[in-house]
Amino acid sequence: MTTTAGPNLAHDAGSDATALVILGASGNLAHQKLGPAIFSLYRKGRLPDNVHVVGVARNAMTDDAFRHWLQESSAGDAATAEWDEFAARLCYVAADVTDPASLAEAGRRVADLAEYPDSKINCLFYLALAPGLYEPAIAALAAAGLTDESYGWRRIVVEKPFGSNLATARRLNAQVHQVFREEQVFRIDHYLGKETVQNLLVFRFANAIFEPVWNRNYIDQVQITVAEDVLVGDRGEYYDQAGVLRDMFQNHLLQLLSLIAMDPPYAFEADALRNEKAKVLRSVRRMSLRELHRSLVIGQYDGYHLEPGVGPGSQTPTYAALRLYIDNWRWQGVPFYLRSGKGLARKSTEMLVQFHSPPHMLFPVPDEVAIPGNTLSICIQPNEGMRLEFQSKVPDAGLQMKTVDLEFHYHDDFAGIDIPDAYERLLLDVIAGDAALFTRNDEIELAWSIIDPIIDSLDLPGAPAPYRYLPGMSGPPHGEELLEADGRRWLPGCAEVGYVV
Ligand code: BG6
Repeated sequence: MTTTAGPNLAHDAGSDATALVILGASGNLAHQKLGPAIFSLYRKGRLPDNVHVVGVARNAMTDDAFRHWLQESSAGDAATAEWDEFAARLCYVAADVTDPASLAEAGRRVADLAEYPDSKINCLFYLALAPGLYEPAIAALAAAGLTDESYGWRRIVVEKPFGSNLATARRLNAQVHQVFREEQVFRIDHYLGKETVQNLLVFRFANAIFEPVWNRNYIDQVQITVAEDVLVGDRGEYYDQAGVLRDMFQNHLLQLLSLIAMDPPYAFEADALRNEKAKVLRSVRRMSLRELHRSLVIGQYDGYHLEPGVGPGSQTPTYAALRLYIDNWRWQGVPFYLRSGKGLARKSTEMLVQFHSPPHMLFPVPDEVAIPGNTLSICIQPNEGMRLEFQSKVPDAGLQMKTVDLEFHYHDDFAGIDIPDAYERLLLDVIAGDAALFTRNDEIELAWSIIDPIIDSLDLPGAPAPYRYLPGMSGPPHGEELLEADGRRWLPGCAEVGYVV
């Protein structure tokens, strides 16, 4: 049975126009992600009827050059007629996004989009900019009079990184709130737009069998791995300032943690959901320096210093493994192991929930063999699906047992349905005004309050230097030792157990 529910998809708002105004439209994000996502939504008929895309950036470019540039990344083998129809909705304004007078010109292009003098124009401002431009661009939008809601709704999308620590995130939140109300603000964490991440909510809360065992009484440990095989490449300048803790942990890993650990919200509604996530972040144990040193391993891949933009002698970690505890009734004492890195063996995002071993073993097993607890694996990417391991009797072999599994693969059960890019879902939600899959101001600040002391501890005298590891390996061996010290180990992921599409 297929059931549908959930946030409304954007659909026609009468004759009102909707302008997707991309500030920083000549950059990589617009080219690689936004253009393709908007075109895909257009082809699927998901956008409001009277939609327009207004690209704004400093470079001089004609409308046609902008269309052609987006066509390269967006249209692929699309029929030309379909692209042409869409391209007619694209225009470009060369403007300095920090200068109100210059932005007012973009405002005039937007105003021209109204088909009738009295129809409204809703505006989504997408900050596809270097983070240093967020504050001046928001101030300039307001000074140019573009944030006035008398003529349609105004919403702003802010990309990560949202600040570089708690103080800068607070300052940015304060500045955003001088111009926009919180419900107009959509802070993107693209992991929340991934189908499989959303499915985690459906899995947990649309099935009754998991919730009763989703706690410390039944769960021994939770592991979250976001591994990447890519190196830093041409992002060295940004990455060397950020490192893996700011780039991946503060946002994606903590968001995954909060979704897997949160209590059921009373509804699938933005504030209900975000209240529960914020409760988890608030409950994450803040560690003493001594505890921190025992709970964190950092690494750096060999050759990182040769990446363009990376400082000589840089100690920026490209790998980290971290043990966290959540101090509440549900999770007291259950370790959450998080790890992420670049230059690892393969790209894989996976969450593993290991249940306790049976309290009493009826069946004869050699002393040295511990019967593992059941493991539930939630594969976010690239082998989207789930796997539950359990023990089974080997036929005709006395009472020998073997670990077997139940598997669900997206590509089997949803054959023929493409998994859309996260940006498609997120853009649609902004247009629909649904902020459930976006990060609220308090979540951002709570996440920084967890990560800041960890990053700061690495600057203290005597702090450990990152361990070296070879690209293509699974990170430094010390990442294993973190778990071995607890009598545990990193559990084999999808690829290791042959669960591969
Ligand atoms: C981004 C990080 O937020 O996420 C990148 O800045 C990282 O460094 C990327 O590569 C990973 O996203 P995905 O969707 O490929 O897992």
